[in-house]
Amino acid sequence: KIKALTPPDIVSRKGETPLVCLTAYTTPMARLVDGVCDIALVGDSVGMVLHGLPSTLGVTLDIMVMHGQAVRRGLERALMVVDMPFGSYEEGPEQAFRNAARLMAETGCAAVKLEGGDGMAGTIQFLVARGIPVMAHVGLTPQAVNTFGGYKVQGRGEDAERILRDATSVSEAGAFAIVLEKVPSQLASRITADIAIPTIGIGAGSACDGQILVVDDMLGMFTDFRPKFVKRYAELGEQAEAAIAAYARDVRERRFPGAEHVFGNGPKAIKGGEP
Ligand code: KIV
Ligand code: NA
Repeated sequence: KIKALTPPDIVSRKGETPLVCLTAYTTPMARLVDGVCDIALVGDSVGMVLHGLPSTLGVTLDIMVMHGQAVRRGLERALMVVDMPFGSYEEGPEQAFRNAARLMAETGCAAVKLEGGDGMAGTIQFLVARGIPVMAHVGLTPQAVNTFGGYKVQGRGEDAERILRDATSVSEAGAFAIVLEKVPSQLASRITADIAIPTIGIGAGSACDGQILVVDDMLGMFTDFRPKFVKRYAELGEQAEAAIAAYARDVRERRFPGAEHVFGNGPKAIKGGEP
């Protein structure tokens, strides 16, 4: 049996080779990701990617538990982190602990992730002191989309100090890693040099200690969603579209099923031995 990576293993990778991270929401995707990734994140992006929600705000703890359980069954080596959804941790440390403990107990994840900087430092400290490793997430925090007025780059110009303070606070509070989302690469580079824990970038440049992408984005599952920070390593959406269209043509023209897909009425069928 392969030994799973732990939060301390991730911390010790600071300054070593880059940490490879992707999201996963299902068992088969977790199996694919596990072979090569250090961290598999069950992101609350699942709400938009798999459930058709307009933002991550409608994602519930129950949704995270269900996808967490599915991902757990597909992982052996990668560290599993589950996102705390909007509304499950912001009231205070006790609420955050109660819900993070539920995520850990019911999904078997080794850590949780929550969005926020300086204002969440007290909560992060509270969780870490009670046995819950926390990954932080600063910069563009999608659960605050309404406060930001859109999915805008954060930390440009004067605003850089705010993001730096957020990163420093969560690092000092005991987070084991921090996601930097959609910030200027110069700022991400400075934060990476300044803080003791690994930075995991998404739209944050190559200086970060690791990178993360939404796996469906990098696989090209969507034809209409193409953010600048996503490199598409495949065009699975286009391939699926073409495959479904080919199936539809075959059915309409009675080309499918073919002879090789059909069961006969012969002796094999009587014995029940036909594949
Ligand atoms: O929900 C998510 O997928 C995330 C990553 C993109 C960091 O938070
Ligand atoms: Na998220």
